[in-house]
Amino acid sequence: MATFRFEKLSARQNLVFTWWRREDFKNLDGIICDGSIRSGKTLPMAVSFILWAFDTFDGEAFGLCGKTVGAFRRNVLKKYIKPILPSLGYEISERMNENALVIRHAGRSNTFYIFGGRDERAQDSVQGATLAGALFDEVALMPESFVNQVLARCSVAGSKFWFNCNPEYPAHWFRQEWILRYKEKNILYLHFTMDDNLSLSKDVRERYKRLYTGVFYKRFILGLWTAATGVIYQQIADDTEHYLIDDLPQIWHCTIGVDFGGTKSAHAFVCTGFTAGYKNIVVLDEYYHDNVKEGRLSPAQLEQAFVEFVTRVRSKYRIVGIYADSAEQTLIEGLQMALIRARIPIEVHNAQKRPINERIAFYNSIISQDRFRINRKCKAVISALQEAVYADKNDERLDNGTTNIDSLDALEYSTERMQDAILQVV
Ligand SMILES: Nc1ncnc2c1ncn2[C@@H]1O[C@H](COP(=O)(O)OP(=O)(O)OP(=O)(O)O)[C@@H](O)[C@H]1O
Ligand SMILES: [Mg+2]
Repeated sequence: MATFRFEKLSARQNLVFTWWRREDFKNLDGIICDGSIRSGKTLPMAVSFILWAFDTFDGEAFGLCGKTVGAFRRNVLKKYIKPILPSLGYEISERMNENALVIRHAGRSNTFYIFGGRDERAQDSVQGATLAGALFDEVALMPESFVNQVLARCSVAGSKFWFNCNPEYPAHWFRQEWILRYKEKNILYLHFTMDDNLSLSKDVRERYKRLYTGVFYKRFILGLWTAATGVIYQQIADDTEHYLIDDLPQIWHCTIGVDFGGTKSAHAFVCTGFTAGYKNIVVLDEYYHDNVKEGRLSPAQLEQAFVEFVTRVRSKYRIVGIYADSAEQTLIEGLQMALIRARIPIEVHNAQKRPINERIAFYNSIISQDRFRINRKCKAVISALQEAVYADKNDERLDNGTTNIDSLDALEYSTERMQDAILQVV
């Protein structure tokens, strides 16, 4: 098992380790750490949460909450809890089928349940639990109803809530309900920046700074709860030519995203290619049919257009996934049947449909890192990216029929599933 090499803790990290035993803070009901990415929030929180649990309780249950169970396992359990706690004398055994950990230390034993705020039926799995505390990693990515449900289960006297997150838009529920009201909620609030992580070298810190621009730079690098306004892809709008290519690079494989249009919108297929190891992302080909301007397609016509598109893409590239708007199951089934009839053995999957601001943050990051290009022939995708603007509130994208949202959705569906893997390549 990987062991963890600690570097000197910063003053703020040290406070995360000690607040619950300090006279001045021990009566507080919880802690919030928000701020920049990689600023050293999750590491001390995860470890200190378990130390606090064992110092205070024996034979109790606790919640370990992530955006999803998988995200918690990857980002917290595998990265910090499993490598660090055994070296401090804690014995961890996993009950896989329950998503639970039983941890033993110094004659005490406590159980930790892993919950995913965004997993379907997350609320069911929380019901019935009686908890003595909960840790929420990336709380701003969870639904408020899920968080409240977990908090309502924390009925053991002395329960504490531990939250961490990166900033989102100012009207976000977590900022309104918790950060702005931390005093009345009796919570310790610590704001982190990358200066609070002494393990980052100057080079690494500079590299992280290049990951985002604009509003995402303010949020993720500077750690500010900032509103998104105006043009979404500023760099593409300002200098479109820089992103267009005529000679396509060697493509490793590609995916296709499909968005279906209603009477007032368009059908869009976008094929996105990846160079080896997900280094660069290139929009290779597109299909765009405007139902308003060009008349509505029958299902058979849509299927024929799709088969032609897939055949054209397949003659040049290896397709590893097709992802279509999951709101339209009958149309998806039609496309799948059409591929089968054409003897094209590729499955059409449901798009994940991640929150739009996560998809935008992803494109912001690959554009900021200069890893994104578009085939000059893909006119609909190009104008869609140039024209995309925020609606006035809460990170929403303007979607009133005046801009081409369909090509953006299709583009995003084509990359959602590998978003995290692509961002790991830095
Ligand atoms: N005291 C330390 N000793 C060694 N490594 C550290 C220390 N503090 C932080 N790190 C390392 O710095 C990186 C970021 O830490 P951490 O995951 O805690 O940050 P975070 O604020 O939760 O980031 P994000 O917002 O991106 O989730 C990790 O690789 C972590 O291992
Ligand atoms: Mg973290």
